[in-house]
Amino acid sequence: MYKYIRPRRNRASQGVRALISETFLHPNKLVLPIFLEDGAGIKTEIKSLPGVFRYSVENATSFIEEALRNGISSFILFPAVQDALKDSTGTYSYHPDNFYLKAIRTLKNQFPKAVFISDVALDPYSSDGHDGIVRDGEILNDQTLEVLSKMAVAQAEAGFDILGPSDMMDGRIAAIRDALEEKGFVNTGIMSYCAKYASAFYGPFRDALDSAPKAGDKKTYQMDPANRIEAQRELQLDEVEGADYLMVKPALHYMDIISDLKQNSILPIVAYHVSGECAMLLAACKNGWLDFNTAMPETLNGLHRAGADIIISYLALDYAKWWRKQHDL
Ligand code: PBG
Repeated sequence: MYKYIRPRRNRASQGVRALISETFLHPNKLVLPIFLEDGAGIKTEIKSLPGVFRYSVENATSFIEEALRNGISSFILFPAVQDALKDSTGTYSYHPDNFYLKAIRTLKNQFPKAVFISDVALDPYSSDGHDGIVRDGEILNDQTLEVLSKMAVAQAEAGFDILGPSDMMDGRIAAIRDALEEKGFVNTGIMSYCAKYASAFYGPFRDALDSAPKAGDKKTYQMDPANRIEAQRELQLDEVEGADYLMVKPALHYMDIISDLKQNSILPIVAYHVSGECAMLLAACKNGWLDFNTAMPETLNGLHRAGADIIISYLALDYAKWWRKQHDL
């Protein structure tokens, strides 16, 4: 009988293909990253990430309005801090005058229903460009946790819904969770960068924030791209330390890790389609080597199919617009 089995029957028409389709990536599963800068009237394009901008808060507001209109409801915000405000322990990160903390107050007030996710790490604020405190070339773990906890409490207090520790220090989820509970921020979520790799694909992001390490690399805290099983160890720790979401970063080059985490945890799994992965696609499309409107949804759908419940991507708004067109909205 095998010769009458024809898988192509299930691909024969658009209607049949829709019936058997396995992956549905709704725009409300996407998170749009936004780079913020202090000042007014700022909209500066990131040269290694065409179409992505650094905004001052009032320009970010119009961008967020456009995204909400198109079905995106979650945003992850990153601060671009002036060099003069950076120091070795990142004190500006929890300073009451910090523009990023002021910005979230404004945005949360304006868009109370939107979900805002923060970045908890030293690198935007550190004169060394590292995610932790550097002493004699070493990244100090436990001293860094103290700063991260202060930063986390300041961000929760300012109105972020979810905090995103991206630093990869040991014990950071527990330290942040303890600090939040102690100050009464029992409803603030933690989206842990659980398996974050020491990747070449963060280049455009570091251009955007001018946050590249001044010396050395991030290999003593971010994971080795060669490792898969090690991600399970980070998963176990983040779960018991109190994370609400587990992230894999980068995404496309780490789909095995996304799949592993999805199978081994009941927490929502997040994939961060990072700046360099996005830049590759944009560059190929700009050259006419790939077609954006087919390659872009294929990319994001692939991450969802691999096991990512939530996807952070600079292309989130492009996807949402594409999705609306597909559904005649
Ligand atoms: C660092 C941080 C990085 C990204 C988000 N948070 C880069 C790094 O580790 O240097 C990268 C995101 C991207 O490339 O899109 N705290």
